[in-house]
Amino acid sequence: MSAYQIVDHTYDVVVVGAGGAGLRATMGAAGAGLKTACVTKVFPTRSHTVAAQGGIAASLGNMGPDHWQWHMYDTVKGSDWLGDQDAIEYLCREAPAAVIELEHAGLPFSRTADGRIYQRAFGGMTQNMGEGPPAQRTCAAADRTGHAMLHTLYQQSLKYDADFFVEYFAIDLIMQDDVCRGVIALCLDDGSIHRFRAQAVVLATGGYGRIYFTATSAHTCTGDGNAMVLRAGLPLQDMEFVQFHPTGIYGAGVLITEGARGEGGYLTNSEGERFMERYAPHAKDLASRDVVSRAEAMEIREGRGVGEHKDHIFLHLDHIDPKILAERLPGITETAKTFAGVDLTRQPIPVAPTVHYSMGGIPTNYHGEAVTLKDGNPDAVVPGLFAVGEAACVSVHGANRLGSNSLIDLVVFGRAAGLRLAETLKTGIVQEELPKDSAELALTRLDKFRHAQGGSPTAEIRLDMQRTMQSDCAVFRTDRTLAEGVAKIDKVYDRMADVHVTDRSLIWNTDLIETLELDNLLAQAVVTMHCADNRKESRGAHMREDYPKRDDKNWMKHTIAWFDGWGGKGGGVKIDYRPVHEFTLTDDIQYIKPKARVY
Ligand code: FUM
Repeated sequence: MSAYQIVDHTYDVVVVGAGGAGLRATMGAAGAGLKTACVTKVFPTRSHTVAAQGGIAASLGNMGPDHWQWHMYDTVKGSDWLGDQDAIEYLCREAPAAVIELEHAGLPFSRTADGRIYQRAFGGMTQNMGEGPPAQRTCAAADRTGHAMLHTLYQQSLKYDADFFVEYFAIDLIMQDDVCRGVIALCLDDGSIHRFRAQAVVLATGGYGRIYFTATSAHTCTGDGNAMVLRAGLPLQDMEFVQFHPTGIYGAGVLITEGARGEGGYLTNSEGERFMERYAPHAKDLASRDVVSRAEAMEIREGRGVGEHKDHIFLHLDHIDPKILAERLPGITETAKTFAGVDLTRQPIPVAPTVHYSMGGIPTNYHGEAVTLKDGNPDAVVPGLFAVGEAACVSVHGANRLGSNSLIDLVVFGRAAGLRLAETLKTGIVQEELPKDSAELALTRLDKFRHAQGGSPTAEIRLDMQRTMQSDCAVFRTDRTLAEGVAKIDKVYDRMADVHVTDRSLIWNTDLIETLELDNLLAQAVVTMHCADNRKESRGAHMREDYPKRDDKNWMKHTIAWFDGWGGKGGGVKIDYRPVHEFTLTDDIQYIKPKARVY
């Protein structure tokens, strides 16, 4: 038994993570009278939702005709037909009410002249089931929508009777006989260990963009919940689908919103050509993100990149009225100055495709319940375990997410999880005692890293991982790069056996926490690389040069992957597949059949 003193808590629901999805789930559970705790490694308003810029998609129709069915069509097409259409129907149908709920909660949306919520164009959003002109569907609070949303949700959440455990790092789930019974966490402030027993745990721990060297993701985006799920012997879904945003600032990786192109911005190459006209004759700069990122990568590869090394692209906003820029894009005006040294009213911004979002994650149904392929049943739920937000793979984004569908995913499925918890749990029931050794696995792992005195500093292994992912699992992939990538990332994983942790105290714990995060990241990097190697087709963000076509006959299926490399050996990845949901929830819309995806 471990020598740690453990502080015990009992709740009906424990939500891990306090971004948009975590807060919305917390509000739902607490609002339904369930005794709820929200455990978060950063202060809620520092969660990565704060960095979302351009807006939140919903077919309000404030700027022209729109319908949720059109939104659904665009989302299915954007997903390259890998999204589950029952979940996509739920998302798009519920979206307008979710945005109005945020408006009533005080989110300071930008306004039209007649006082309605302002909506801008975003990539892949069209009218009339893809046949019409662009739809202005993305509801915006200037270019700080995520910031406004997170603050609104946090303020709202304070009026509910939920307990916040702020700056607590969740180490592992407590699993007993395939049921999730709670979570073990470390208080970063005083080093105390906490065991949360609960009827249900909701993982809202975000994405794992930091497996890459250049990402718009915060350094905190280490996919901790995903890794806990893998350690619990449960699978992740569709991990090969990693989104590159076309406009990360060159070098810094900081996001320049797609809303910039929604407001009329455009991309050029070294010849001053608006090259998107060649790649997407209709949508041009507002094609979906995978298409635009690939086009940029092609231009750079063919020698038409800009700058000394011809390795990036220019984004122009200098033709737009400075008053409009100041009103609608104040954030990126400042960001472009700070991180690229450019005045965007006069100069183009240097940009490049930059890792931005993880389409894959913890498989769930549209109620937020985690599912597994246990006994071959693709819909079997994991009792006591939920996942929402970027940590989850519902799957509404399939192989490629449309911009502004992320913020709406957070609130629609955060709310859905709250509703399901309210429907399935009763408050105050006496929970069975946890087994005596329920914290053992988590604390043994903690101990291992506290005393890790090998020859490889955490930062060095992390860099090795990030460079491997950046070079071998990038926008374009081939059998050769992926086979090399698999061999390299497995070796990087094995280096963890030789990690050296400098601060071993539970109180002075920066390097220790970064090591736990790295261990989480590495498992996801290994799984991502293996899954990418295994999928022999191109779909959405997964572009195989050696298999350039989408192959619906053989590959219209979700990847399900388990990881068993914890003994220090990488490569313990087991892969299976499950069918895409080719059905809708209601008769209000029929299944949208696959077709060629052109913009
Ligand atoms: O470009 C953006 O503003 C990002 C939005 C998103 O990823 O949804």
